[in-house]
This record gives sequence, structure tokens and C-alpha cells, in this order.
Amino acid sequence: MNKLLVSLLLSLGVSGLGVAGSANAADGAIVGDAAAGQAKAAVCGACHGPDGNSPAPNFPKLAGQGQRYLLKQLKDIKVGTAPTAKPGEGRKVLEMTGLLDNLSDQDLADIVAYFSSQHMGIGAADPNLVKRGEALFRGGKLEDGMPACTGCHSPSGVGNAPAGFPRLSGQHATYVAKQLTDFREGNRVNDGDSMIMRSIAAKLSNKDIEAVSSYIQGLH
Ligand code: HEC
Ligand code: HEC
Repeated sequence: MNKLLVSLLLSLGVSGLGVAGSANAADGAIVGDAAAGQAKAAVCGACHGPDGNSPAPNFPKLAGQGQRYLLKQLKDIKVGTAPTAKPGEGRKVLEMTGLLDNLSDQDLADIVAYFSSQHMGIGAADPNLVKRGEALFRGGKLEDGMPACTGCHSPSGVGNAPAGFPRLSGQHATYVAKQLTDFREGNRVNDGDSMIMRSIAAKLSNKDIEAVSSYIQGLH
């Protein structure tokens, strides 16, 4: 069973199968215009930073994030935050309620193109957590059937933009830890029918999450 999970997850990673999903800019359906996106992203900058490097550790950095991943999140957040959303639909981000309602697919593609073209700044890891964090990120927990993060998020943490695997390198540890906890507790469920991240987070203790999140914040 555990072996099966590992090989399933690894084959998903290696073959670059993204989470089944929406049409996106990377597919060429709608091409985003970064210059137009910068103006449309003004309201987002209040929380995420004008260039997508958010100053607050609970607001994710968007700068340099892959376009396919960003666009999928925006569509999921739009669905998950709608007043009609059923439990488990899309991704719930209460802080963004109403913000995406009046944005067209072209607006979203433009905003995504803008943030993606920026450069994500790198933070620092807690030196006391690096060893454990690195071991998890690079080695996984094979005895528990959990693959290494590197298979999908790449050894340097830059992710795999065409596959929709997000960049983690430099992301705020506080935000990363909340996502891993949300996946584990079933509060974030937009990782597709294969439940890739929910399966992985299920194998992580609170201490594991603290260590790997800190490691990610300083990773480059
Ligand atoms: C009031 C603050 C606020 C504003 C304004 C805001 N966001 Fe967010 N956004 C958040 C928070 C908080 C999260 C993460 C929630 C969580 O913990 O899951 C988030 C998550 C996201 C994510 C997911 C990032 C990831 O790595 O998965 C994207 C993409 C995003 N926001 C884009 C936008 C865009 C585009 C706008 C403007 C149209 C915007 N946000 C405006 C607070 C905000
Ligand atoms: C088999 C591929 C795969 C592996 C292995 C994997 N991930 Fe992921 N991860 C994904 C995908 C795909 C998503 C995006 C899910 C979605 O669309 O919301 C993701 C999303 C995430 C996110 C949310 C990013 C954000 O900006 O909100 C975090 C954090 C994360 N992974 C951390 C990890 C860590 C830590 C490990 C190792 C312990 C790991 N992942 C292993 C595929 C993988």
C-alpha cells in the first residue's frame, strides 16, 4: 500500500501530470499581458505586495510563481469564496471574498502574467531546523510512503511551471506551514482527485511541518 502510494506519486511527478484543471495561460488559451496586469493588480498589492513579495508572513508571495499554478488558484479561490460555494468546492480564502468576482478570464491572465514576471525574494531558515527540514524535503519519509518534495517541486524549490507544481523556494514559512496543515486537516482540498498534497501532508507531524516550512523559506 505504502509502496503503491510512493510509486503513484513519483510517477505523477515524473510524468509531469498536473492536477486536472482549468484552461490556463501556459496552454496558450488566453495569453496574459504583464503590463496590463500590473495596473489591474493594484488592489492585490495591499496584501501581496506591489511586486508580489508580500511583507506579511501569512500572505503568500506571488512573485515569480508559475502562471499555470497561479491561474488555477485564482479560479479555485473564485469558486471557493462564492456565497454559493458548497463545502469542499474550490479554495476558501475569506480575505479575498468578492475581489475576483468582477475580473474576466483575461484580467486574471494579465494579473498572473504580471506577478509571475516578478522575482520572488528569498528569506532565511532557522539554523536549528535546517537539518530536519532538508532531510524531509530531499529524502521524504520513504518508510511511511511519503516521497521527497524535490520530485515535483524540484531540488531548488523552483517548482515545475508547465506542470502546475508551485514554486516553494523563498515562500514565507508561516504561510507554507498553514497550507501543509490545511491539506492535512482537509481544510484545503483543491489538489485534485489524486489528492497529492493531502496524502503527503497526512504523513507530516507538526514538528515536520515546522522544519520543512522553515527550510523552504531559505531554500534557493
Ligand atoms: C486582504 C488581503 C488580500 C488581498 C487584497 C488579496 N489577497 Fe490573495 N490571498 C490572501 C491570503 C490571506 C491568501 C492565503 C490564504 C491561505 O492561507 O490559504 C491569499 C492567497 C492568494 C493566492 C494563492 C497563492 C498560493 O501560493 O497558492 C493567490 C494566487 C492570490 N491570493 C492572488 C490575489 C490576487 C490576484 C489579488 C487581487 C485581485 C489578491 N490575491 C488580493 C489575501 C489577500
Ligand atoms: C507528486 C508531486 C508532489 C510532491 C511529491 C509534493 N508536492 Fe507539494 N504540491 C504539488 C502540487 C500539484 C501542488 C498544487 C496543488 C494545487 O493545485 O492546489 C502542491 C502544492 C504545495 C504547496 C502549496 C503551495 C502554495 O503556494 O500554496 C505546498 C506548501 C507544498 N506543495 C509543499 C510540499 C512539500 C513540503 C512536499 C514534500 C514533503 C511536497 N509538497 C511534495 C505536488 C507535489
